[in-house]
Amino acid sequence: MNTTDQSELKDQIHDFWNEVPCGTQFANSEIYTKQYYEDIEEHRFGILPSIFSFAQFTRHHGQKVLEVGVGAGTDFLQWARAGAQAYGIDLTEAGIEHVRHRLALYGFQAEELRVADCEDLPYPDNSFDVVYSYGVIHHTPNTEKALAEIVRVCKPGGKIKVMIYHRHSLLAWFFWFKHALLAGKPWKSLKWVLHYHMESIGTKAYTLKETHEMLNKLPVANASVSTELTYYDRLGRFNPLFRGIAKVAAALLGGDRVGWFLNIIATKK
Ligand SMILES: C[S@@+](CC[C@H](N)C(=O)[O-])C[C@H]1O[C@@H](n2cnc3c(N)ncnc32)[C@H](O)[C@@H]1O
Repeated sequence: MNTTDQSELKDQIHDFWNEVPCGTQFANSEIYTKQYYEDIEEHRFGILPSIFSFAQFTRHHGQKVLEVGVGAGTDFLQWARAGAQAYGIDLTEAGIEHVRHRLALYGFQAEELRVADCEDLPYPDNSFDVVYSYGVIHHTPNTEKALAEIVRVCKPGGKIKVMIYHRHSLLAWFFWFKHALLAGKPWKSLKWVLHYHMESIGTKAYTLKETHEMLNKLPVANASVSTELTYYDRLGRFNPLFRGIAKVAAALLGGDRVGWFLNIIATKK
């Protein structure tokens, strides 16, 4: 993809998330109120409780943490609650605006919140004890560059915690079934389906091998790369018949092995 195509794609990605910042579709209360954010939080951690064991917010008390792609700030609030020195960036003005409102409602202050691009982080090398990014860098056109940026700004000995989507997952196959097979285009690939039908345009998902290949080029050690079966793979919001099909498929195909979330934890060398 040339630079103009990438920048046009990024504009579309920006507009998608700027219109409906991540999670805000689940709030039923008046925007910018405490109840609005509690609706979002209840929904998120109700379906994705494993975020707590992945992020380990409280363990990083007092540390300098950068969250890349804060969205509406559901995890960012946890960094603030845990007493981290929290820095956050997002591509969208709307996301950053939400996080400002949200922290103020709970009486917290970020060290810094700004609109920025994860492919070009506005921080010097070796700045943070932890760099955390949950469900973000597979949306940007150059995911490999974003991962390299995350590693660059992390201090030597610091932790990198990143979740990206896993291509060989039940959810990806369910999407293929719906948007390729049932749409009469069975020749379309998983990559194509995810590019056009998963959230913002251009979304990608990675295999374990591809993830290791990206990490192998970067100064990281002790990289743990694992997949996790999620509420989405289990078709959690569908009726019992669909949930039953998903349960059997997960059991036959190896559970977490075919999960939608691909969790990376590594230490910067
Ligand atoms: C699925 S949401 C995740 C948000 C948040 N991490 C969460 O889990 O709720 C994806 C986020 O990635 C952000 N994003 C996409 N491309 C980006 C880029 N190039 N730089 C920074 N943020 C980006 C979007 O604006 C959006 O807020």
